Amino acid sequence: MKKIAVFTSGGDAPGMNACIRSVVRSALYLKMEVYGIKYGYNGMIEGDIYKMKSYSVSNMVQRGGTILKSARSKDFMTKEGRKRAYDQLMQRGIEGIIAVGGDGTFTGANIFYDEYGIPTVGCPGTIDNDLYGSDYTIGFDTAVNTALDAIDKIRDTAASHDRVFFVEVMGRHSGYIAIQCGIGGGAELVMVPETSTTIDDVINTLKEGRDRQKTSSIIVVAEGDEQGNAHEIAGRVMKNLGDLDIRVSTLGHIQRGGSPTAFDRILASRLGLAAVEGLVNGQKNVMVGIIDNKVHYTNFKLAISKSKPLDQELIKLVQILSL
Ligand code: F6P
Repeated sequence: MKKIAVFTSGGDAPGMNACIRSVVRSALYLKMEVYGIKYGYNGMIEGDIYKMKSYSVSNMVQRGGTILKSARSKDFMTKEGRKRAYDQLMQRGIEGIIAVGGDGTFTGANIFYDEYGIPTVGCPGTIDNDLYGSDYTIGFDTAVNTALDAIDKIRDTAASHDRVFFVEVMGRHSGYIAIQCGIGGGAELVMVPETSTTIDDVINTLKEGRDRQKTSSIIVVAEGDEQGNAHEIAGRVMKNLGDLDIRVSTLGHIQRGGSPTAFDRILASRLGLAAVEGLVNGQKNVMVGIIDNKVHYTNFKLAISKSKPLDQELIKLVQILSL
């Protein structure tokens, strides 16, 4: 394999740049040509593709976002869109692809491989950490640290005013960010889509805390929780506990930005090299991940269809430590 291309797609994640850098430099080290595709699948369809050199990725291991830009492409979901993308790649003689993104990205990659058979290796890049086949995804650790920093600050004001704060963190279908922030931030309760927590559970937790002379509380809510978003949950709790001073803070997209942590830079660098090596060694339709600190390749179909369950021990830990 002599020519490969790399792109980022879906929600950006801190560490994507470190991954692109690793892909580019690993490919050059192995005497391959490497092309960057901008704006994810949209750029593949439009031919927004350029040859990358070693200097193309200088001074970026520490930068958040993605220099290749990102997008969620509607056109790639159509047969015509994918045909145009294939033609663009063929015109340039590209023989292998490295896709950095999450489940949406790999769903597209899997369909594209089934239709056109271009070997593709995915690097898990999403703050959600919801991909089967890797213990951690690029950007998750940074997002947790960013959210934790915000929760620490919220705790200061919550304690000063004797308030209850509902803090909403990202995670459409997954409570990984919420649970880690809950433990690291000393939350009284964590609400995640993977386990059911009723409004009565929330009310009881707050009442019991009050009985134990707790003057302030933090409840971390994953945006995908089955009870709704943090505003909706807080509203229903307020109806029952009108005497409590309740506030809501939605952390939102700040969790997606910023300089990646050391953990994410190293993870992204390892995955970038492993993706290039995977292509060289004949991997075709897989996501590369790290499991128990070792590189593993998992078929895209499995990576996107199998769920990565939240460790129930972590949920129990929040309950025990919030006493
Ligand atoms: O998948 C990453 C993520 O940040 C989710 O946690 C969140 O639900 C979603 O992307 C937000 O997407 P967008 O940036 O398109 O609003």
